[in-house]
Amino acid sequence: MAQPKAFLFDLDGVIVDTAHFHYQAWRRLANEKLGFDISEEFNESLKGVSRTESLDRILSHGNVTLTPAEKETLATLKNDWYVELINKMTPDDILPGINAFLEKTRLAGIKIGLGSVSKNAKPILERIGILNAFDAIIDGTKISKGKPDPEVFLKGAEELGASPNECVVFEDAVAGIEAGRRAGMKTVGIGQPDILTEADVVLANLNNLTIEDLRKALHF
Ligand code: G6P
Ligand code: MG
Repeated sequence: MAQPKAFLFDLDGVIVDTAHFHYQAWRRLANEKLGFDISEEFNESLKGVSRTESLDRILSHGNVTLTPAEKETLATLKNDWYVELINKMTPDDILPGINAFLEKTRLAGIKIGLGSVSKNAKPILERIGILNAFDAIIDGTKISKGKPDPEVFLKGAEELGASPNECVVFEDAVAGIEAGRRAGMKTVGIGQPDILTEADVVLANLNNLTIEDLRKALHF
């Protein structure tokens, strides 16, 4: 029977709960520097989206217009606050089931790739001690287009020597599921089915998931 050849994992919200830290830092910026609040619901539209595009979406949400220089200052400030939060992380912050699932993936002979738009991806993987678990790392320093563009996952597949239809994408973001689908890959949503409506399968987390169950659910 057919076997998937590569699994491509998003980072923020899939491997670690940094999606929450991004929200915290953007919310602080909106509150303290822009004079409005952003809801958790609005934050769903920022997940998987690059730093500059996220700021543009926040500004347009609050009807605020800024110069490129002002935007640069705010994006840097948000990142400083975000880095303060991620610098406190330890291997204990890896989300439930991830380590075991990566091990099962490796034992099944399936390649492991990271597909993240974040420029902080590598320092985070180092901090939580799993940098070496990845056969390829595609992050915000290697791509020119954020999700929902498929670039990040197509590059991952290429580096791992897999064709798109042999890849599975694991994502918590609506934009990330769209990127995976546009890349021609199967998608596993991590989160809520009513939000990740376009994913092939949606799971709350990767706890106790076996490669065999996943293969069946995705019709490999
Ligand atoms: C990921 C996150 C986004 C974040 C983007 C850029 O895609 O889901 O919320 O905006 O990375 O992250 P960075 O760490 O480079 O600001
Ligand atoms: Mg994510």
